[in-house]
Amino acid sequence: MRLKKLLAAEAPQQNVEVRGWVRTLRASKEVCFIELNDGSCFASLQLVADRTVDNFAELAHIGTGACIKASGNLVDSPAKGQRWELHVSELTVIGNADPSYPLQKKRHTFEYLRSIAHLRPRSNTFGAVFRLRNALSYAVHQFFQQRDFLYVHTPIITASDCEGAGELFRVTTLDPANPPKNNGRIDWQKDFFGARTGLTVSGQLQGELFATAFSDIYTFGPTFRAENSNTSRHASEFWMIEPEIAFANLADDCQLAEDFLRYLVKYALEHCAEDLQFFNDRIEKGLLDKLTALADATFSTMTYTEAIEQLKNSGQNFEFPVEWGLDLQSEHERYLCEQVVNGPLFVTDYPKEIKAFYMRANEDGKTVAAMDLLVPRVGEIIGGSQREERLDVLTARMEELDMAPESLDWYLDIRRWGSCPHAGFGLGFERLIMYLSGMENIRDVIPFPRTPGHAEF
Ligand code: 4AD
Ligand code: MG
Repeated sequence: MRLKKLLAAEAPQQNVEVRGWVRTLRASKEVCFIELNDGSCFASLQLVADRTVDNFAELAHIGTGACIKASGNLVDSPAKGQRWELHVSELTVIGNADPSYPLQKKRHTFEYLRSIAHLRPRSNTFGAVFRLRNALSYAVHQFFQQRDFLYVHTPIITASDCEGAGELFRVTTLDPANPPKNNGRIDWQKDFFGARTGLTVSGQLQGELFATAFSDIYTFGPTFRAENSNTSRHASEFWMIEPEIAFANLADDCQLAEDFLRYLVKYALEHCAEDLQFFNDRIEKGLLDKLTALADATFSTMTYTEAIEQLKNSGQNFEFPVEWGLDLQSEHERYLCEQVVNGPLFVTDYPKEIKAFYMRANEDGKTVAAMDLLVPRVGEIIGGSQREERLDVLTARMEELDMAPESLDWYLDIRRWGSCPHAGFGLGFERLIMYLSGMENIRDVIPFPRTPGHAEF
């Protein structure tokens, strides 16, 4: 039986069988104590075996990390901090582990655990992280499905650079030894069986197509950015959730983002209590109080222009300049939501020059109907906007940016036929997990991190 179910037992159980991996083992001449974990929950089960077990002599040779199977009776435990223990009648070693097993019982640094990323799921911290990640993935679908949003799979291989930042990883079928040439130069335009493609940076553009047919949709998939930034919150491959809603403006978009985040927080509090308790005790003090308050909080809002004012009047010595027209850096974002409002903060209406081409132009001609949601410690967790639904305004903006409107003809078509106001946003899933767990580094909330220079496995 899986430990999660067994440990929730209300009464002692006769003859149960458990399987899992050994966390620790203490053996004396008379008795052997084994902490067993099977990943289904944070807690381990204590197995107690004495000389009545046939192969008792063998048990002292079981290594930390070994895979075993045990059966016996689940009884009240006299030990502190645990309700049950298993009195073993039979124990089988499925796969032993020798003493070179790297996850011995001591605290390892996260850097070290990254170097054994294939084994770290067997540690307490990463067990908790990946259970939280699993629970929240489910909650994402539940939130949108309950609201009748259509889940759409947008393509991974695409010809469009949604954010226009030139961060597409190229997808190529070219034979590097024998590339097609045009006047002696490699013809990169032909790299995907004749088309020029890359890995998607966002499913939004295709999401918009579906929103103008199904009204409310969302995507949830991997996205890729070839930005060479080595920070604790950027990864080359990350997961993004992108809802897109028709008949909606920026205020509707912010409302959806707020409801969504609160829902996820509540879901985690309700379904991941044991793991969050661990994060609270070992990773971020006060996490549980913060999340409990967040579950019912109303988020603050200020415009980009107000944010710049706040930063200028802050008396802080920022590393990066603060000037209307310049993008907010992580230190600015953190100051705003940690010092000014102390909680999640929507910053809206950014200058058009620092935002993507598809955002709806505001009346002032200088700003666009954009929003970023900033949260303490992590900074930007969501980026979104109302989209430019007016064909003439959108084409003019694309031309201003030297983008060929023909290259996105399919995107413009939905402005030609049956256009409507619509809005959406992208939530970075790893940043969400960082926020809810207190984990500091994006590499420690994704099973197999891909960052510049790192793509093991
Ligand atoms: O702000 P971004 O670039 O917005 C978009 O991609 C829009 N197309 C979304 C939309 O409106 N549908 O990215 C959205 C979020 C960010 O707020 C951040 O949480 C996350 O994606 N993100 C990253 N997470 C990890 N590593 C990176 N390199 C990330 N880049 C963005
Ligand atoms: Mg952004």
